[in-house]
Amino acid sequence: MNVAQEGSPLSYELIDLAEVNLPLLDEPLIAALHQYEHEHTRAWSRTVSSYGGFVFVFPQYNWGYPAPLKNAVDFLYSEWRDKPAKCVTYGTRGGSKGAAQFREVLNGLHMRPLDDHLEIVITDDDVDGSWQLKDLDATMRPYWEQTRTIDAQMVEALKDTQ
Ligand SMILES: Cc1cc2nc3c(=O)[nH]c(=O)nc-3n(C[C@H](O)[C@H](O)[C@H](O)COP(=O)(O)O)c2cc1C
Repeated sequence: MNVAQEGSPLSYELIDLAEVNLPLLDEPLIAALHQYEHEHTRAWSRTVSSYGGFVFVFPQYNWGYPAPLKNAVDFLYSEWRDKPAKCVTYGTRGGSKGAAQFREVLNGLHMRPLDDHLEIVITDDDVDGSWQLKDLDATMRPYWEQTRTIDAQMVEALKDTQ
């Protein structure tokens, strides 16, 4: 995120879904009606509404995207609409299949998926015995240029909305 932020006119913030801590979707009505019963949904709606675009960063799980990501997007509907969206995936093979699937979800939400996606391959050399990254900067260094491109794409996409 620091690399994307460097010299950018945009302001990037990290939203960690583990911290947002949504339950499994528990709204009785579909999100498109925008009649939210639960405060956690209203809070999530305020958060998502406050951003102009999104870079979704997620691992590939069994050729798809992780369930908590789908759960989080399904809580809302119009809050996502028309906003530019970029996928950044990571995994032992990078995550192209998960990105392709999630792109369809972005289309369903009427977001504006940006071209391509960034795929980060995590190798055995990147992780320790507990599969934790040994050195985030070293793993990310080969992708710095592509990260700068994401920022350029996002700046361009957001011009249309200003
Ligand atoms: C349930 C599960 C399924 C996975 N499936 C894939 C996969 O299909 N392709 C891939 O490249 N990596 C796959 N991986 C590897 C993960 O993408 C990789 O371990 C990643 O670092 C996990 O990120 P996390 O620690 O944020 O969950 C899988 C990992 C898990 C736990």
